[in-house]
Amino acid sequence: MRRYRSPVDAKVALLAWYDREARDLPWRRTRDPYAIVVAEFMLQQTTVRRVTEKWRPFLDRFPTWSALAKAAPGAAIDAWRGLGYNRRALRLRELALEVMDRGGTLPQEPDALRRLPGVGTYTVSAIRAFVLGHDVATIDVNLRRVLGRWLFGREGVRDREVAAAAQAILPPGQAKEWNQALMDIGATICGVRAPRCLLCPIHPECRWAASEKIHRDDRSAGRRQGRFAGSSRQVRGRIVDLLRDHFPEPLSRAAAIERVKDALVVDSASVEAALLSLVRDGLVEDRVGPDTDLLVLPAARSPERKAQLGFRGR
Ligand code: ADE
Repeated sequence: MRRYRSPVDAKVALLAWYDREARDLPWRRTRDPYAIVVAEFMLQQTTVRRVTEKWRPFLDRFPTWSALAKAAPGAAIDAWRGLGYNRRALRLRELALEVMDRGGTLPQEPDALRRLPGVGTYTVSAIRAFVLGHDVATIDVNLRRVLGRWLFGREGVRDREVAAAAQAILPPGQAKEWNQALMDIGATICGVRAPRCLLCPIHPECRWAASEKIHRDDRSAGRRQGRFAGSSRQVRGRIVDLLRDHFPEPLSRAAAIERVKDALVVDSASVEAALLSLVRDGLVEDRVGPDTDLLVLPAARSPERKAQLGFRGR
């Protein structure tokens, strides 16, 4: 069987990133199985933004399995307004009836879960990871892209292979945070187009970032102008150009960020991230101190002199 690398640093970095940057989605704040399952049904085919608006009103109207089980099918459909794919409302109500038949609880076994109305492979894994706390990877279209890029260096990896890899790297006891962290990476950083690799906590371990985006060599940039425009390498290059123009004088950090942002039409976060990577690589030094906000190219100074001047970086 194929073995997958399980990079400890990237795992730690991803969970730490999630701790800081997790999207504050309402269904993540509850432990009520019913409320979580309602969210998962809605999220099967509706965007996070829309579900964020519709989830609470649905729960206000049908707060429990029992309330939904007693509702007329038409009432469930009515409460589903704005979510689309209305058959899900009927399946969810049928699920509520089934749960009530079982004394108000969901089954634990995957096969029994799979037989429930409206519950497919993804929803089985979501219920197991998010409700039951089982060590199970959830694989949806976004996770398939993120994991394909990270672990295989490409997209379009076969479902079975991605699922096996996802399961192999899942940190035991943390399925909930782990899966949702990957969902958030897919939604906020590793999008279909223009992924922002330098902001990504796993980019040092990501095979796709390494091969495609971040350290692409200069010769290929000339031939592939289209992909170079807006890339993190272009942002890095522009920052260094600016500091070159000023050298040996330092440049204000805020001014540098504004100028690069305006020149390249990129957001501040991308410029900040590029800056961070330049400092890490020793190409830029930033001066720290209560009243300083200065960047400079590394000068040929002794380490002692640098420390006196308050620069950090290598
Ligand atoms: N899509 C499906 N489940 C989700 C969750 N728990 N958070 C964000 N997006 C999701």
